Amino acid sequence: MALLQWLGLSFLVAVQSSAVKNCHPGCHCEVESFGLFDSFSLTRVDCRGLGPSLSVPIPIPLDTTHLDLSSSSLGPISDAMFAGPGYTTLVSLDLSSNSITKLSPNALSKLRYLESLDLSHNSLESLSPSCFYGLPLSEVDLSHNSFHKFDMDVFAGRVNGEPVNVDLSHNKLVSVSPSLHGKTGHIRSLNLSANHLASAPSLAGLQLRYLNLDGNPITQLKEGTFAQLKDLAYLSISGLGELQEIEPKSFAGLQNLQVLDLSNNPKLKSLSPAVFTGLDSLQELNLSGTGVASLPTTMLAHLPSVKIITLGRSIQCWRSQKQGQFHRQIGPTQHDDVLNCNVQGVVL
Ligand SMILES: *[C@@H]1O[C@H](CO)[C@@H](O)[C@H](O)[C@H]1NC(C)=O
Ligand SMILES: *[C@@H]1O[C@H](CO)[C@@H](O)[C@H](O)[C@H]1NC(C)=O
Repeated sequence: MALLQWLGLSFLVAVQSSAVKNCHPGCHCEVESFGLFDSFSLTRVDCRGLGPSLSVPIPIPLDTTHLDLSSSSLGPISDAMFAGPGYTTLVSLDLSSNSITKLSPNALSKLRYLESLDLSHNSLESLSPSCFYGLPLSEVDLSHNSFHKFDMDVFAGRVNGEPVNVDLSHNKLVSVSPSLHGKTGHIRSLNLSANHLASAPSLAGLQLRYLNLDGNPITQLKEGTFAQLKDLAYLSISGLGELQEIEPKSFAGLQNLQVLDLSNNPKLKSLSPAVFTGLDSLQELNLSGTGVASLPTTMLAHLPSVKIITLGRSIQCWRSQKQGQFHRQIGPTQHDDVLNCNVQGVVL
């Protein structure tokens, strides 16, 4: 075991933080090498808090994979900003806390390997419909911005359902990625928390696994809002000061959702069981900090997989088998299950 660990450590990770060529004075650059003969490496460049730069693009080492430019007073992002050597290999880019008001439509177009983009804590109100066009983005954080509405076409390169006309000349195109054919891309995680969205955006057809809509001024969730988000596993709709109503079947179509966080929605006073129709995989439901004080006994029929429901600050309810109904067959049958809470009188 010890020998294996020693072998693992010496072969797999060798961090050479020195001798990184072309590291900008205000940044910290680090190369991590992996594999038996250091055959695979990641170059991380940390320029956090760099401050306004005279030269654009900021010089970074060739083959940089991770770049942190957060809190660097970047302001509006121009096409030239990420067009330098070293940028084309970026897999992740952190642009959070930069007072960004505008992202030029082609600013990211050279970042053909970009999977993770953090634009949180900026002042964006909109994005041009082609700005993520053709990028293999899987994770986008747009939390703490000023979006009043959000159009998923940014992931598809479409304007009003029509493919955007993009000039592909002057490119050494080897193949055209699927997203260029108008499919909806690879996006798995989208964070839209703390924006100005008055209604839940339509994201039908995206292959999202994580969606965060916390802290938006949404007043109502309508039937079918999340239809066609069948891959979604985690949905957070928490801290909505104005949310008063969730219509029945609002979550219909979320057949793989495992966690639903509806906590801290104080104006939400009641929920009919039909609200939860279609949540066949839901395991955890958080209703703490809402006006919902009790649960109907029929709740379990609508939530066949639920394990735990959190209600008040310290009220928790679990699925358990009805007492005195233990059968010797293997596995409980569903209608024998009841909700048991650590406080009496919650299940009515
Ligand atoms: C989404 O954004 C909020 C607010 O910035 C943050 O607390 C949360 O961790 C983010 N979620 C993910 C998955 O990064
Ligand atoms: C439910 O939400 C509250 C408030 O956001 C949080 O403090 C608590 O940890 C959550 N409970 C569970 C079981 O996730």
